[in-house]
Amino acid sequence: MKTAPVSPASPALSDPMDVARRTDQTELKIYTRMPFVPIRGEDCYLWDARGERYLDLYGGHAVALTGHCHPDVSRAIAEQARTLLFYSSAVLSAVRVDANELLLKHAPIPGTRVYHCVSGTEANETAMKIARKTTNRRKIVSFVGSFHGRTLASLSAGGMDKYRATAGPVIVPHHVHVPFGDEKALADAVDGDTAAVMCEAIQSLAGVMVAPPEFHRAMADIAKRAGALLIYDEIQTGIGRVGSWFHADAVGVKPDLITLAKGIASGIPAAAVLVAPVVAEKIALNDQGNTFGGGPVAMAAMRATLEVIEREGLVENAARVGQALMRKLAGMKGVKAVRGAGFLVGIELEIPAAKVQAALLQRHMVTGTSSAPNVLRLLPPLTFSETHVGEFLPVLEEVLAGA
Ligand SMILES: Cc1ncc(COP(=O)(O)O)c(C=O)c1O
Repeated sequence: MKTAPVSPASPALSDPMDVARRTDQTELKIYTRMPFVPIRGEDCYLWDARGERYLDLYGGHAVALTGHCHPDVSRAIAEQARTLLFYSSAVLSAVRVDANELLLKHAPIPGTRVYHCVSGTEANETAMKIARKTTNRRKIVSFVGSFHGRTLASLSAGGMDKYRATAGPVIVPHHVHVPFGDEKALADAVDGDTAAVMCEAIQSLAGVMVAPPEFHRAMADIAKRAGALLIYDEIQTGIGRVGSWFHADAVGVKPDLITLAKGIASGIPAAAVLVAPVVAEKIALNDQGNTFGGGPVAMAAMRATLEVIEREGLVENAARVGQALMRKLAGMKGVKAVRGAGFLVGIELEIPAAKVQAALLQRHMVTGTSSAPNVLRLLPPLTFSETHVGEFLPVLEEVLAGA
């Protein structure tokens, strides 16, 4: 086969204003985009076309778990792409089974099975579908403030009006929302028609809202007593971000279904539903399926991602460095509260977070906001170190002092 030379990037791509103009002419205007064109990444740093370096505390929206372009992950992807780019899960695959085994080692319940798909919202749709099908019940009880994705059932389960409104007039029926942390309201809402209680383990987009472990355990009891399944959306919290493999581990619950996505394959689109054995045995042939889930490149990336996380002790790193980071942030002038766990950190400021985010970007620090106007969010790679913390804090201090 002949190969054509790779075409050089368009020279216009170097100019952020030009990229912004051409983006507006070609894409739906669905995001307020940062005025920033990263073209290269390595570990916790990004570079723009001028060669300027940025510290990344946002990780491409919580995706760069192993840091940008970890050499082992990039090599695994390149090698797989050269050997077999794609075949669907209709065939057997050694790389897929390797990834399954590495992932399931950390599942809360032995004998758990995995279902591969491509995006977080697809994993959540699948989990709700499985819950409804296997219980033969209709209702999903979820929490005010939660975010579960942007397709119809996930939007309907989500507990923020702002996002639900984007579905227009059609919201999937049989979704009920109760306040996060309100045990009585949850107990009142869960009944004999409840297929599942669905929980975003830590409500990230809502401003990093954390419920106490006792509430999580009460939730598990309430669901169990009613014969409803427990779904944990760990799309953001899972695979070590919060300093444990799953937030469910940290709060001592064993969900029936756990949904995962984001950095599970370090940025190659991949998502998964972990299905407890009692549920898995009720799933029949053709009950679910999709084309791309479990594809070889995604599985090579997932296998390498999980290997790197284990080998480099990144879950422990997130717990240790995350705790130190939160402790230091808590004493800072201009900071009202710090919430979260590991490397999912919400900093409640005295002033709007968007202003601080913009000032930080000017100083080459990439951070995130949330739907709570004053909450700045940090979602760095799990490789983020004390050195990176030391680089970030004085800059934030300076920005807050000048605000
Ligand atoms: C907790 C949570 N659930 C679900 C989703 C949806 O995932 P995706 O954008 O891959 O569909 C997200 C994405 O931000 C999320 O943070």
